[in-house]
Amino acid sequence: MATLPLVVLLSGYGSNLQAIIDAQQRGELPVEIRAVISNRPQVLGLERAAQAGIPSIVLDHTRFATRAAFDLALQEKIDALGAELVVLAGFMRILTPEFVQHYAGRMLNVHPSLLPRHRGLNTHALALAAGDTHHGASIHFVTPELDGGPVIAQARLQIKTGDTAATLAARVSALEHVLYPRVIRWYAARRLLWHSGNLLLDGQPLTAPVMVDFAEISGK
Ligand code: GRF
Repeated sequence: MATLPLVVLLSGYGSNLQAIIDAQQRGELPVEIRAVISNRPQVLGLERAAQAGIPSIVLDHTRFATRAAFDLALQEKIDALGAELVVLAGFMRILTPEFVQHYAGRMLNVHPSLLPRHRGLNTHALALAAGDTHHGASIHFVTPELDGGPVIAQARLQIKTGDTAATLAARVSALEHVLYPRVIRWYAARRLLWHSGNLLLDGQPLTAPVMVDFAEISGK
């Protein structure tokens, strides 16, 4: 399988970046992380990149007059790196439609809920408040609609008595770390395609997200 050049965009902790690095180092993910780009300086995600010997770039959004100017600078960096896939991993920015359009079918995001439930922030508290029985993580292609792009795969867990937003955050995070590298591997293998409004896996239209259960992921 040819190695896929990609960039990872983040704003903070970078545990999904770490999961991608780990999968790559185990030989399970044929990707080359050309750079990690953060819109915030001095975040743990940048340290993780440094430890893995991956170049990192800080593009501080507070130094740009407009959202469009920031996105354009970001686009120039990504394209100069020759990235074929843009991996959003906790990148806490609303993106301009122009930026999103430029990477249509080439940009993935991980979201901590079973989309279309609970878009935006505070998903764990929202799931609890709604009395949901299940919760989880979704990987989707990015479209201009926030957390609204076509969902490729989801990992699901059952909400237990006593779960809090904090326990759910930890449990969902563990799901993401397995699910995201798996979907990126499909993309790297050219098994996954989103083109002209059609989501295809192995040449077949994906009418519903691939569902991975927590029991399968945790081996329990
Ligand atoms: C994850 O919960 C992800 O779903 C959301 O942002 C968080 C990023 O976590 N988009 P990390 O920085 O990868 O640890």
